[in-house]
Order: sequence, then structure tokens, then C-alpha cells
Amino acid sequence: MTNIFEAASRSNSMFSDRRVFDPRHSPSTLRHRDAQVHAMVLNLADALEGHIPGNMILYGTTGAGKTAAARFVIQQLEERAEAIGSSVTSHEVNAQHTNTRYRVLHSIATRLWEKGDVTIPFTGWPADRVLEETVRRMDRRSGVHVIVLDEMDRLATQSEEQLLYDLTTLNVLLSTARASIIGISNDFSFTDSLTGPIRSRLAAEDIVFTPYTADQVNDILIDRATDGLREGTWDESGIRLCADLAAKEHGDARRAIDLLRVSAQRAEIGDANSINIEHVISAQAQMEQDRAITLMQGLPEHQKLILMSILINQRNGVHTQNSGTIWETYTQACSRAGFRPLTSRRVSTIINEFDSAGLAHVRNVFLGRHGRTKHVYSLIPKGIDAIQILSQDNPGLEAASKGAYKLQKRLG
Ligand SMILES: Nc1ncnc2c1ncn2[C@@H]1O[C@H](COP(=O)(O)OP(=O)(O)OP(=O)(O)O)[C@@H](O)[C@H]1O
Ligand SMILES: [Mg+2]
Repeated sequence: MTNIFEAASRSNSMFSDRRVFDPRHSPSTLRHRDAQVHAMVLNLADALEGHIPGNMILYGTTGAGKTAAARFVIQQLEERAEAIGSSVTSHEVNAQHTNTRYRVLHSIATRLWEKGDVTIPFTGWPADRVLEETVRRMDRRSGVHVIVLDEMDRLATQSEEQLLYDLTTLNVLLSTARASIIGISNDFSFTDSLTGPIRSRLAAEDIVFTPYTADQVNDILIDRATDGLREGTWDESGIRLCADLAAKEHGDARRAIDLLRVSAQRAEIGDANSINIEHVISAQAQMEQDRAITLMQGLPEHQKLILMSILINQRNGVHTQNSGTIWETYTQACSRAGFRPLTSRRVSTIINEFDSAGLAHVRNVFLGRHGRTKHVYSLIPKGIDAIQILSQDNPGLEAASKGAYKLQKRLG
């Protein structure tokens, strides 16, 4: 019998360095972002001369390289500052988790902690006191502080305005140090909700990251393959397919890199010598299934029940589903689950949300004087038992998932 470790090491043969596929990995070269990098450099160059660099916001869809570009520029800035003896301190805060005024300030101040300083507790101080202490520590370090506020559209609404006010007025509070803010957002309308003065101070410069084209993704993937896969395990056709598939998904480099990683794993599992088209296709199918399953599991109860109604209708051969047929099944499902139905208006909004989430395709259809309706088709990938996934671990939903429904009976 083959030793199990020998077998495992043999099946590891696709990758020369798995870390290259880790989401935290910094690429060896940043491709196709020269214009954005240049705009950031122009803004930040002042920092090296001790002036206040401008604030900026980086906008763009997911996987467009915003975080990667900001890190790349900051790293270069820090290196240059060190070489010429200028003081630049960077702070990267991600508002997905660090999402309140208190937490963001706490995180900046904590990075500047020195022996003898008080430890700011995770909660409990008045936020103004945290701000005061942050300003004191920034001044003590002096030089320029570049604060990168990543995923800033995730800030808790009640904190957002005050925090952005604090950050954009830091230079008034600081006496020896200077501060510059780089906000990063997926949401192009993010600054619309801010009051005029904060908006104009924060968005002194908007830098837009457009989705990558298939050719650009291709270049990014070739770099990754060169850095992270063994020679001879990949060729251009597999990479090209990964790039084309990812470009369809809004030019998302993260998805493309993931797709290449999963394709390489598929090749490993299949004991193949190199990644072929079938590996990429099955990796893509697996990723679509995984994504749909994660999305479905995270839905609130009523959303699950509405999606389940669409799937039950589909199972029962209702080919053209509209608001009416979904509503009919949904209200029956509610009564089986013991839930009070939401209003039909709310249900209609939720169905539209399925469209944005990629769980269903929704077309609004106008019926002239009969008003309007929606035509809805499920986009849940084949090969997963979606009704079972939606109902598991919830007795109400399980009850709703079983048995015959009116529309089915009518079909006979
Ligand atoms: N131009 C590029 N060259 C090389 N690698 C890149 C490039 N752009 C993005 N990547 C890689 O693609 C992945 C996603 O990029 P990144 O995290 O910067 O996207 P993002 O725009 O911040 O997305 P999100 O809005 O979802 O946070 C990362 O692994 C990153 O290293
Ligand atoms: Mg990011």
C-alpha cells in the first residue's frame, strides 16, 4: 500500500507556492493600474516633502484591485520615505469589521501605542477621548500619517458622519503631524449621503477602478501561474478560459485567481499532469454551486421561503413564473411553516434582490391596462438540492418544503 503521506505529497504537485493564491498575498507586479497608481502618487508625493497630501477616494467594483493598488502605493511611499529620512506612517483599517467611530480611532491609536501609554479599552471611553488620545499619539510620532479606510461603505450609519468629520478635520487638531485619508469604496454613490463639507474634503480626488477586461485578467493570471504553479502544469488555453469566465463576472481579478486555484486543485485530484479545459469548467461549476449555497444559507427566513416558492413552482413545472404564481405558493408555504406572510409589495422587492444577488433572473413585464408583473427564472446552478439547503435546520421551512402545492394539483 502507498504511504498516505507519499500519496499526499504527490498530489501536491501542481503548486510551487500556494501562498501566491492566498487572498492576502501581494502581487509581485501590479498590472494595468498605472493610471490609478499615478494619480495616487501625485497626491501623496507632497507627503515626502512634509506637506499635507490630499485626501482621495478609490472607487470600483469588487476585485478591481483597489486594496492591492493602495497597498502597493503605500509600501512604495514608506520605502521612499525611509530612504530619504522622511517620516510616513500608514494605517490600514477595514470598515467591514472595524465599523464604528470608536473602533476606527481605537485601531489607529493602538498602532501608535508606546510603553507608558494607557491601554485604550475596546469599549467604554467616550469616543471624543479616544479621538484626543489618537491625535496626541499621532503628533508624538509626527510626520505624515496616511490612513487607508478600506470598505468605507460598510461603516455603521450612525458612526459614519462623525468619524469622517473627525478624519477629515484631523489636520486642524494636529499640531506637528499631518494626516491624509484614502477611502476605498465599492459603492459609487457612497459620498452622496455625506454633507457637503465632509464630502468635498474627503473626495478631493476620485480615482476610479474600472473592471478588468479579459485580456487584463489574463495578464494577472499569467503572473500568478508563473509565481505559484509548477512549470509545465499550465498552459495559455487554461488561463485564457479562466480569464474569459472571470471577465464575464464583472472583471473580478479575485474570482479569476480563485478559479485558477480551484482548477489546479481539480487537476491535482484528477492526478493529471497539467490543468486542462475540463478542470477549469468543473472548477467554475463548483464555485458557482458554492457561491449559491453560501448565499442561500445566509438568507433570512422569509427570503428563504420566497426563493423556495420559486423553486417549488419550477419543480412543479410552472414554466413562466410571475408575481402571482410566486405569491400563491409563498402564502401556502407560509401557512405550512406557521409564518405570517409579508406584504406582496415587500415580496416583490425581495424578488428583485434575488436578481441583484444572481439567484434569479427577473424581468419586469408591462401588461398594458392589466398593470405589470414580473417574469422570474431561478438561476440556482444545477446539481444542488436547493430546496433541501433552504429548509435545513428550520422545522417551519422543512414543513413548507414538503407535500403538494395548489399550482401542482392544477397542473394535474
Ligand atoms: N492589477 C493587479 N495585478 C495583480 N494582481 C491584482 C491586480 N488587481 C487585483 N489583483 C489581485 O486580485 C485580488 C483582488 O484584488 P483587490 O483585493 O485589490 O480587489 P478590490 O478592488 O479591493 O476588491 P473589493 O472591493 O472586493 O475589496 C487580489 O488577490 C489582488 O492581489
Ligand atoms: Mg478590497
